[in-house]
Formats: sequence, C-alpha cells, structure tokens
Amino acid sequence: MSQHLWSGRFDAAPDPAAFDFGISFSFDRRLFEDDVTGSLAWAEALAAAGVLDAKDAAAIREGLTEILEQGRRDPAWVNGPDEDIHSFVERQLVARIGDAGRRLHTGRSRNEQVSVDLRLYLRRRIPLLQAGLRSAIAAFVDQAERAGDALMPSYTHLRRAMPVLVSHYLLSHAVALKRDHERLEQAREEANAMPLGSGAIAGTGYAVDTAALAARLGFDKVVPNSMDASSDRDFAATFLYATSLAMVHLSRIAEDFILFTSEEFGFFELADVSATGSSMMPQKKNPDPLELVRGKTGRAIGHLTGLLVTMKGLPTGYNKDLQEDKEPLFDAEDTLALSLAAVAAVIGKLSLHDQRTGRAASGLLLATDVADYLVSKGMPFRQAHEVVGAMVRQLLADGRDIEALSLEEWQAFSPLFAADVKGRVTAAASVRARRTPQSTHPEAVIARLADLRAWLDRHTVDEPS
Ligand code: ARG
Repeated sequence: MSQHLWSGRFDAAPDPAAFDFGISFSFDRRLFEDDVTGSLAWAEALAAAGVLDAKDAAAIREGLTEILEQGRRDPAWVNGPDEDIHSFVERQLVARIGDAGRRLHTGRSRNEQVSVDLRLYLRRRIPLLQAGLRSAIAAFVDQAERAGDALMPSYTHLRRAMPVLVSHYLLSHAVALKRDHERLEQAREEANAMPLGSGAIAGTGYAVDTAALAARLGFDKVVPNSMDASSDRDFAATFLYATSLAMVHLSRIAEDFILFTSEEFGFFELADVSATGSSMMPQKKNPDPLELVRGKTGRAIGHLTGLLVTMKGLPTGYNKDLQEDKEPLFDAEDTLALSLAAVAAVIGKLSLHDQRTGRAASGLLLATDVADYLVSKGMPFRQAHEVVGAMVRQLLADGRDIEALSLEEWQAFSPLFAADVKGRVTAAASVRARRTPQSTHPEAVIARLADLRAWLDRHTVDEPS
C-alpha cells in the first residue's frame, strides 16, 4: 500500500472502509491540468523565495512538465490508488525525481491547493460554456432573421394577448441567454483570486511573493484572508447559480417549443432529426430532447441547493465536507453544455408555419388595438375598454370575428368608428403601432437583431481555442 500524504503521525494504515469513503480521485482527476499548473507555479515561488535550490526547482519543473504531457497524451493514465489528484501528482513526481519531489509541498496545504485548482478550472472552462451559449443565441438570431415579418400571438397567462412578430418572440429567448453569458462572466470574475500562501489556515511561513504567483497563474488579485480562503466556496456557488439560471431559461425555451410544435398549436415543426417516434403509436413525433432539457434543469437546481446546504453549517476553516463541491459543479457544467448543444440543434432546424401563426394572431386579440383606435378619436381609455369589452362579448356570442364586421356594425358600437378602422385593426398594423425600442415594431426588432449580431461578432473574435 502506498504511503499516505499524512502517514507520519499514524502507526497503522487506515481502515479501507474509512479511507475509501474519503477518496475523491475518481472525480477530482478532472482537475489534473490545474493541479499541475498550480504546482509548477508554487515550485517557482518557492525557488524565488530561496526555499528550493536551483537544481531541485529545475527537477520539479521537468518532472511536472513530463507528468502534464503524459496526462494530456493519455488521460486514462491519470489513475491509481491515490486519495485525490494532489496525491497522484505528488506520487508521480517523487517516482520520477525522488527527494526533490518531496520538497514541493513545503509551506503548502491541500486546502489551498484544491481551491486554486478549482478556481483555475472554472477560469478555463467557463469560456467553453459561453461559446455554447453563443451558439444557442445564434440559432435564435438566425431563425428570427428567417421569420421576416411573420406574425404570431403573444400570450399572457397563456391566453392570447397581442400580436407580435415571430422574430420578436424568438429574440426574447436570445436576450435571456445573453444575460446568462454575462452572469457566467461574473462567476468567472469571482473565481479570479489566488489563494496560495494561505497555508492550511493561518498563512504560510515562507516568504512567497503571492502577487507574482497570482500574476503567473493569471489571477488579478490575491485573497485577503487565509482563514476565509481555506473554506470559501462562494465562487462555486455563484457558478452553480449561473448554470442553474441558464438551465431555467433553457427549460422555459423547451416548454415553449414543446407546446408550439404540438398538434394544438402547430406554430413550428420539429425537424425529424430533432424528434423521436413512439414504439407503439405510429403517428407520434416526440420532442424528447426538449423534454430532457426541461427534466435536467431539476438536477442543476439541485446541485446549487446541495452545495448551499453543505456550506451552511460549517465552522470556520477547511472541513472535509467541502470535498462535496466538485461532483455537483462538474455535473452542472456537463448538463449545461449538453443542454445548450441540444437546444441550439433543435432551434436551428425548426421550421415555421407562418400561415398558422398569422391566423392565430388575428381576431379578438386585436381588441386592444380597437380600444386604442377609439382613444385616438378622443374617447377616454377606460370608456373605450368598456365599449370594446361589449363588442367582444357580442362577437363571442355570435361566433364571429372582428374582421367580419361591416362598417354599420362597427358604428353600432360607437359612432367614432370610421372607414379607416378596418385598415388600422390588423395584426400587421398592431405591431407597427408599437413605438418603443424594446417593442415588436418591425424596425425596432430589426435594430435589436442587429445589436445581437454585432455582440455575437464581437465575442467570436476572441473565441477561445
Ligand atoms: N479532496 C479534498 C477536497 O476536495 C482536498 C483537500 C483535502 N484537505 C484535507 N485537509 N484533507 O476538499
């Protein structure tokens, strides 16, 4: 059995039931690159502080570089009986360079090591999620452009509200996902503090230049308090909040398109490649990918809740409970990445039934426009609301639609109605009557679409490789 990192104080090997229970290597091996990166920088800092001589520092650098290359070449090699990734890297180093490898951990604790690893990991992985978000946003923007001036009903309380452009609806999801992009940037910023030099809790006893170490690792600042740093996982919780909210948005998108592609709505058609059939019912075309996105949102939210509950009762300082931070974090990352890819693929291949959306955008949902018409002729809005309410009641009783009314019938409801009413009370006129920059007015929507395209272009320039 290999020596444990802490075997000196103990006269017996640990009970396998206790030791195996605490092993985190099966999941924290994902921090391999970051652990080596952190150790390379720590060795340099120790050398600069005069703690390591030049020969040992060079041996450590070469050994760690070899380990990094081997692990990159063959990820399955990052494996073994070790307790965690930190023990694995140290064991490999000692196996290569002997005693020099045993000097690497001078002045350092795994408590700060796991923190720096996780921070480095998030700093390099969040940009990949952001690229996934941009693909999903681009799918909506492309569809919005293709939708042109097609109309559809909007809904409040899932009841027809007012006509909107289909493009306006599609961009409503794009802008929510853009906020997720920004929120992930904030999460990345929260991870931007370098904890090394904190030691196990009280700070390290060697004159390590932490500012240089932070710069070397790409951090803008050093944590301000070693006691806080050893147990701070706020940045992980913030990341889980950002991923949860992004999943909530994807879930609402999924719900919309499950409804809108159903026989009842028939607004959009799922591509065959985005759907699955039924083993029993030949007519079925099921939106499984969208349902799964909606379903997986539960576990993303669960991960956030789980970590907050893990953190809430901890006394100051590192506690092993914190090892429970990694599995939810990795799973939330994977869940969001896969869900984004699924949503981008499904949305990108949707086809629009603009005849159906257009038909659904006419009729009684023009009632607000009728009221606005009366207001434009001088009637107070409250009174106009009454008049149009009575009209709607009558039309519903007769099973007729607003478009079917003759001018005499219009005027029976109010003498203010004139010949121009028929041209002003249409879905196309309704969207043109909206005036604000965030409205569904066609020119406003075209401008917002251009804003999103420009934003996408700006972010694609510095695409991570
Ligand atoms: N595997 C541990 C974790 O994930 C690493 C830190 C261990 N520190 C300790 N004192 N046992 O939190």
